[in-house]
Amino acid sequence: MTRKPLAFIRTFGCQMNQRDTETIRGLLLEAGYGFTEHAEDADLVLFNTCCVRENPERKVYGQVGQLKEVKAGKPGMVIGICGCMPQQKEELTQMLERLPHVDLFFGTHNIHRLPGLLHKIYATGERIVEIWDEGGEPTEGLPALRESRFKAWVTIMYGCNNFCSYCIVPYVRGRERSRSPQDILREVEELADRGIKEITLLGQNVNSYGQDLKSELDFADLLEELNQVRGIRRIRFTTSHPKDISDKLILQLAQLDKVCEHLHLPVQAGSNDVLRRMNRGYSRERYLQLVERVRQHVPDISLTSDIMVGFPGETEADFADTLSLVEEVEYDSAFTFIYSPRKGTPAAKMPDQVPEEAKKERIYRLIDLQNRISLKRNQELVGHELEVLVEGTSKNDTQLLTGKTRTAKTVLFPGTEDLVGQLVNVGIREAQTWSLTGEIV
Ligand code: SAH
Ligand code: SF4
Ligand code: F3S
Repeated sequence: MTRKPLAFIRTFGCQMNQRDTETIRGLLLEAGYGFTEHAEDADLVLFNTCCVRENPERKVYGQVGQLKEVKAGKPGMVIGICGCMPQQKEELTQMLERLPHVDLFFGTHNIHRLPGLLHKIYATGERIVEIWDEGGEPTEGLPALRESRFKAWVTIMYGCNNFCSYCIVPYVRGRERSRSPQDILREVEELADRGIKEITLLGQNVNSYGQDLKSELDFADLLEELNQVRGIRRIRFTTSHPKDISDKLILQLAQLDKVCEHLHLPVQAGSNDVLRRMNRGYSRERYLQLVERVRQHVPDISLTSDIMVGFPGETEADFADTLSLVEEVEYDSAFTFIYSPRKGTPAAKMPDQVPEEAKKERIYRLIDLQNRISLKRNQELVGHELEVLVEGTSKNDTQLLTGKTRTAKTVLFPGTEDLVGQLVNVGIREAQTWSLTGEIV
């Protein structure tokens, strides 16, 4: 090949996966690849997959299937599947059978091996499958081609030890492994030097950061260290497991000036019986107490959640408990999910799976309630002046800029493109369910 080979990557799933894709792009750039937005033009097509629910899995089969013909007319094309799906043995067997035109399978623990695996494919022309069951020590020093010039994701820990009974993540991401505080600090300092203003610390359960390390440092201490990095203006983190939030962390939330007033605190369900069978490790009452304590210390905090309907055995009364909890907490917004049975998890084998119809009806009711609350919470901000990090121009109206408040709300306002990447103060004039509109003050 005389011209630069082109790569196309499609990413599914959570921010962890999106961050992994940035590493993959970094590795490919070093290996001499360019990038394209069109799979048909690419020499290498990668699908970084998610298996947390059935839907994203089905999409992968569909989209990879569509490439079969494209590849037939383009013999040199290499197609690869990575991420969480191939980490499941049965799913991998199925993909190997059903997707014969896929040349490469690798997993979540051996991303750094990609250049070598590609080399092997080009050298031998053979299909390569390399999946590792466990991650071992986090691999440091990998390149990354980041999406944004002014905000960045920083993975602080990999894996999950919680084994919520519905969830596949611990099986495909392995046990909790924290990066060393020195490595994280170095990365954040480098990001700050390059002009990054906002960082989001990533982990399936950031509150248990450091428990696997020899040092005494915990997540609250890490925040304190990162708060001192010059140039960084905002620090976010996700996800917090309610069972592991310490009082020390709540105090840091209130005290550290760069740590944003936003807590994503997935509740999943409002019924104690369901929470117990989900193996979440907290009760409704403990969760509500936690919310109260957080609000006592940080009154203007924005709270968001993940909520699931249709967990096995969920009765109408259980679901009513979820609705009443949502009403009591008044989340700023929430991701809502229909329970999707995952092979190999305890919940998939539980009796009394909820019929599809009932699940749908419940999620509509839940979304309806949450939308009303989101609008109400946003309306409370009309007349306030909020700091916004300008992220770009609005997709629907290029006269408008779009950005995020410290509380993670989207704000639209008139302005010029040179403000992108800057922090500005915006007076809020109007509220919608999913956004605010205003004017720079
Ligand atoms: N570690 C994070 C969430 C990771 S998965 C946490 O504990 O909060 C993101 C969300 O997907 C979960 O919060 C849950 O609401 C949802 N989810 C996970 N497994 C699911 C399943 N089998 N069916 C439906 N939703 C699921
Ligand atoms: Fe899944 Fe629970 Fe771990 Fe979150 S904490 S990734 S929901 S097992
Ligand atoms: Fe999906 Fe894997 Fe994230 S299963 S939600 S991409 S950890």
